[in-house]
Amino acid sequence: MKYPKEYLDEIKTRLKVSTVVSKSVALKKRGKEFVGLSPFKNEKTPSFTVNDEKEFYHCFATSEHGNIFDFVMKTQNFKFGEAVKHLAQLAGMQPYMFSKEDEEREEEWKEYLSIYNQYVEFYHNELLKNDNFSYARDYLKKRSLGKDEVKKFKIGYIEKNPNFFDKLKNVFSEKALVESGLFYLDEKKKVYVERFRGRLIFPINNISGQPIALGGRIIEKLDYLAKYINSPETNFFKKGSNLYNLDLARKLSNKLDHIYLVEGYMDVVGLSKNGIENAVANLGTSLTYRQILTLNQFFDDIIICFDGDESGYKAALRAAENSIKELKPEKQISFLFLPDKEDPDSYVNKNGKNNFIDFAKQNKLSIHQFIFNHYKKQTENNPSSMAIFEKKLREIVNTIKDNFIKKYVLEYFLEKISELTPYSNQNKKKSYFKKIKSLESTKKHFNESQSLTGIELKEFSFLYLIMNNLKLLQSNIYLLENIKLFTKVNKQIFKLIFDKLKSREQISIEDFNLDKQLLDKINKFAPIKHILKNKSNNSHEIIELLEDISRDLMNYNLEFRIQELESRFSKDLSEATFNELKELKKKQNIN
Ligand code: UTP
Ligand code: MN
Repeated sequence: MKYPKEYLDEIKTRLKVSTVVSKSVALKKRGKEFVGLSPFKNEKTPSFTVNDEKEFYHCFATSEHGNIFDFVMKTQNFKFGEAVKHLAQLAGMQPYMFSKEDEEREEEWKEYLSIYNQYVEFYHNELLKNDNFSYARDYLKKRSLGKDEVKKFKIGYIEKNPNFFDKLKNVFSEKALVESGLFYLDEKKKVYVERFRGRLIFPINNISGQPIALGGRIIEKLDYLAKYINSPETNFFKKGSNLYNLDLARKLSNKLDHIYLVEGYMDVVGLSKNGIENAVANLGTSLTYRQILTLNQFFDDIIICFDGDESGYKAALRAAENSIKELKPEKQISFLFLPDKEDPDSYVNKNGKNNFIDFAKQNKLSIHQFIFNHYKKQTENNPSSMAIFEKKLREIVNTIKDNFIKKYVLEYFLEKISELTPYSNQNKKKSYFKKIKSLESTKKHFNESQSLTGIELKEFSFLYLIMNNLKLLQSNIYLLENIKLFTKVNKQIFKLIFDKLKSREQISIEDFNLDKQLLDKINKFAPIKHILKNKSNNSHEIIELLEDISRDLMNYNLEFRIQELESRFSKDLSEATFNELKELKKKQNIN
């Protein structure tokens, strides 16, 4: 039932966000906003903010964000309709009355739910208790599932010649029973037949946990029967909108930021049995935009984990090309490919939870990496093939709706292509890595005789220069102001000296009580000593030398942070990371 916008807007105008939130969260005023402890996370310092002017709340710890309706839906597990009713009451408004058609549909919906409820309950109990169905229980045992999983997922078993229809007929209309999709009319025999007879059934619940459809698996191998069948689409069940186990998995979203999307019912159940409960399945159809959107409401990171066979790979590729269109900043979609012939169920049963999680961490590919790798595999190293490759990638990029993501996925693709065609990009590469190169070669040179890295040697030179010119630097302390060292011990020494110099006391090197061994090492290896030897004690020259080294250190630091950010960006594609990266690259160019 769709509420008119005016009605919802009136609720919003009557209720401030802070009024609604403060019913469950203690808020403190801070400027224009309120802050408090996040209701979505266990925390000690507040990261939850409420802005009445903008009519939203935002949690910096979990990225939860929304208006008053979202807030009560998320914190009280309400459906939208329930949230509206609840808030209307709080706002002192009458509950909204729907038209006659709406009311009829509401009645049908209640009947539909009631049919499914009775159906699922009945066959669930049959599977648990009926002595005649021990073979179904044995089948589950063989697949290492026990009572706990059967109960958690309300799995049922329907005998081969059931007569439950006749019982339900006394309670519900024939029309409603047929429209539920659980039964169909056998035209020849003129009897109603149970669609899922002879199958294990997996109830598919809506987001609030009510069963609205079924998946059914045969337990005897019969070639003329499909291994799985699903409920047909009904007035209340649309395949592309639902996901198996979303109702349970979404409850974990305040603890976990990622969700596994798998192919089959048994994958979800098998993962759950092994302690991985943040998994949903997409019911044997190809993945839709609505499903991605729904998952993204709860989880920032979707890990699509399809079977390690050809059809799983193809399904994943289809999913990648469809879902990249909808990719949003701050959200991630990645792909996990299991070893050949394995699906998540078989893999986790063989290797256990931790192994699965580690495997996922190490092997998942972000959506753009996956697409790039896929088309690269089909490319030969000749100009026409490379041209087709680039064209294809550009076509895919053009389907991306978010302009921001579009730009950066394109950049990612082009950069990767340029790595494959080094000759046409030689100039670019050269200038890019020039600065770091001198450090790299220093490193190589010294690595052979000593186990010192290039950066350590630079730092030694830097410290050597300071220690031998304490007075000069005391009066030019600004030269040391923004310098960052990498190596832990060097950092410590630098801080010690720097603080002392700043204190403006008269000092000599003995005051520092430096570790003798380290001091020796610096004196022995600091490359700068060879240069200094030939120079006079001209303070101007010394300052110039120091500036040179400082610039190298700064660039090293920049390069290091850029590399870090680039690898983060290739994973999160977030605007914040990109802007940071842009700033650093700007700085690098200035230096
Ligand atoms: P799989 O054939 O990979 O099955 O189908 P599975 O999940 O590994 O099942 P087990 O382990 O053999 O029991 C994956 C999903 O594809 C849909 C179902 O949703 C199934 O869970 N499917 C499969 C069908 O809809 N019809 C079929 O005949 C087979
Ligand atoms: Mn399987």
